[in-house]
Amino acid sequence: MRKDIAKILVTEEEIDRITTRIAAQIDRDYAGEDKNLILVCVLKGSIVFMGDLMKKITVPVEIDCIKASSYGAGTVTTGTVNIHLDLVRPDLDKCDLLVIEDIIDSGVTLSYLTKYLKGKGARSVKTCTLLDKPSRRRVEFVPDYCGTEIPDEFVVGYGLDYNERYRALPYIGVLDPSVYSGE
Ligand code: IMP
Ligand code: MG
Repeated sequence: MRKDIAKILVTEEEIDRITTRIAAQIDRDYAGEDKNLILVCVLKGSIVFMGDLMKKITVPVEIDCIKASSYGAGTVTTGTVNIHLDLVRPDLDKCDLLVIEDIIDSGVTLSYLTKYLKGKGARSVKTCTLLDKPSRRRVEFVPDYCGTEIPDEFVVGYGLDYNERYRALPYIGVLDPSVYSGE
């Protein structure tokens, strides 16, 4: 374990069980000729989760990406979200989008993205998150697929970062507060 990691919250084995379970749910829900499943990776935090999840999905699937960040001053979100890299497809009315997130915190990002993608004309939009911190919600939001709920602690690894670091760790760990206490 890295010295900056206070404890491991979700192990590699637990993550593997989570991706297996969610992939089976997705296979069941998106079976059939009439479905056109597109996994939409919310960059960059969801890259590792989506990469593992898509390998376990057996129904036909395409992938795409979107980059967004919640817009506000410091820790105060205004409730609006900036799109830095948009989803551009000519056939959205024939697409069943499944937005893949690493973590839901305030709920602002995913509730905005869901409305935004529906507004662009997607046939259906569902959401999937590896981690959920329900105690932190500022806007009501319930994902369609959820890996596991976690307490209100700042976590890194498996795609999640602190100042762009720690994304390559194979597990989800709680960052030692000494790393950011000097801020
Ligand atoms: P929200 O649900 O709009 O507040 O934002 C979710 C986003 O905040 C995630 O996609 C992450 O980028 C970031 N985030 C929230 N909590 C954490 C955390 O514990 N570690 C790393 N990033 C986090
Ligand atoms: Mg994110």
